[in-house]
Amino acid sequence: MHASQTAATDTNDAIIPRRNWLSRMSSAVMALGLTLGYGMLGTVMGLFLYPKRDSSRTWQFLSDLGSFAIGDSVTYEAPAGQKIVVTRLANNGTPEDFIALSSICPHLGCQVHWQSNNDRFFCPCHNGAFDKSGQPVSGPPKDSNKPLPKYPLMVEGGLLFIEVPTEALV
Ligand code: FES
Repeated sequence: MHASQTAATDTNDAIIPRRNWLSRMSSAVMALGLTLGYGMLGTVMGLFLYPKRDSSRTWQFLSDLGSFAIGDSVTYEAPAGQKIVVTRLANNGTPEDFIALSSICPHLGCQVHWQSNNDRFFCPCHNGAFDKSGQPVSGPPKDSNKPLPKYPLMVEGGLLFIEVPTEALV
């Protein structure tokens, strides 16, 4: 046997364990990738099939549509204490007929109220005013561009419901 053949055999002996090691490592990485991939797929499918319920908000009955005339406005206090003014602006029998806005002025916290003759919400403390969608139109709320927070509404079976937080903000 020649010296060059011995050197080639030694090199092959070193390459084969390295190949085995690389092969095992790539198999392990592939297995890990498949496990993570299927795990994420399972998580996404689980969230799709069983969506998490948001327990921080709840739907509350407000009124039946028949006893809420256009232009009427009621003040509602949510279970967690939020004061909300709900106003009827149209008569199509849909949630879009109504608007539910926080009745607390975002300037310094005074009570706002609906003025149907001026088609606006008004805060008497510093003459702040908001349009019927709650956007500030004059006074300090306009200067700081702070709208009245809005609450979702739903109509079902001729009844009006409002979605409110179950906990007060601190
Ligand atoms: S508190 Fe409403 S405008 Fe100042």
